[in-house]
Amino acid sequence: MKVAVVGATGLVGTKMLQVLAERNFPVTELILVASEKSIGKEVEFKGTKYKVVGFEEALAAKPAIAIFSAGGGTSLNLAPKFAEAGITVIDNSSAWRMDPTKKLVVPEVNANVLTASDKIIANPNCSTIQMVVVLKPLHDKYKIKRVVVSTYQSVTGTGVKAVEQLMNERKGIEGEMAYKYPIDLNAIPQIDVFLENGYTKEEMKMTLETVKIIGDANVKVTATTVRIPVMGGHSESVNIEFENDFDLAEVREILSKAPGIVVQDDIANFVYPMPLTAHEKDETFVGRIRRDESQPNTLNCWIVSDNLRKGAATNAVQIAEYLLEKGLV
Ligand SMILES: NC(=O)c1ccc[n+]([C@@H]2O[C@H](COP(=O)([O-])OP(=O)(O)OC[C@H]3O[C@@H](n4cnc5c(N)ncnc54)[C@H](OP(=O)(O)O)[C@@H]3O)[C@@H](O)[C@H]2O)c1
Repeated sequence: MKVAVVGATGLVGTKMLQVLAERNFPVTELILVASEKSIGKEVEFKGTKYKVVGFEEALAAKPAIAIFSAGGGTSLNLAPKFAEAGITVIDNSSAWRMDPTKKLVVPEVNANVLTASDKIIANPNCSTIQMVVVLKPLHDKYKIKRVVVSTYQSVTGTGVKAVEQLMNERKGIEGEMAYKYPIDLNAIPQIDVFLENGYTKEEMKMTLETVKIIGDANVKVTATTVRIPVMGGHSESVNIEFENDFDLAEVREILSKAPGIVVQDDIANFVYPMPLTAHEKDETFVGRIRRDESQPNTLNCWIVSDNLRKGAATNAVQIAEYLLEKGLV
């Protein structure tokens, strides 16, 4: 299969190439695209060096699939051009996620919504993906009423510049700032821009995307998203109120059988998910599973996943695998 990766030199694009190689996605021809400044640059895939090209060359090569991780503006501009040429776009930016004509997909949750006519498919926000993987099997069994989530998000979620900012601060080097404030030894309660309702765009992504993916408007979500000086993945403290009561042993059983989830919940032995242990893993890890003793039918848990993998590259490649397996590309 001819595959294009748009944004191939970025954090997500680099991880995308790694995941395509690891999962042995049947790439017969690879076309790598980045911004003009990177054209001609060499990027390695499975031991072969590929030259980065411009988008016109990628369009002319007519790949079957183009995986985009080049920012919302680039996606708004280029994805329709690729789709019109019959290329199926899987897009990591937020550009198309809430467009009612586009599918927003986490394969473990709702891959069944995909059809051959979906030419621009949206990959959800990283913090949303790892949360819905855990919410869906519990919703199916106990029916979720409301979710209260607070996130502890990795600097890799912002891209190359943010990783550089953290590393520069650690070395005492003055450099370009990806954030308004220092991130080392800090916690910044702002991810993305503020909206009129006082929430950030990241917080509203978690609220709106969750409902779209789970496909139930009765599920209410409220979020506080925070950037912390961590690299391996995003962590989330999640409080879930159900319509029906649950049994904790059954919750653990449901989660341990659900696709893409690893339960790490053994407090006697200090076993719980952490970014350090989730780093470079494709699964979503859940632990600290306990009853919220302040109100009925409510559960607390702690969810961690590598945001560059399940939160971006792995989820996109899983969508591509599903399309291929079902003959939709
Ligand atoms: N980081 C995450 O955890 C995460 C998770 C989910 C989704 N996303 C989304 O994925 C996208 C990329 O994120 P990132 O963290 O990888 O950012 P990044 O490290 O800053 O990389 C951005 C990539 O986009 C390319 N690019 C920029 N303008 C372009 C243009 N006009 N045409 C073609 N390519 C262009 C860049 O090429 P140059 O190197 O030439 O500048 C680079 O390859 C964003 O939309 C982000 O919201 C990120």
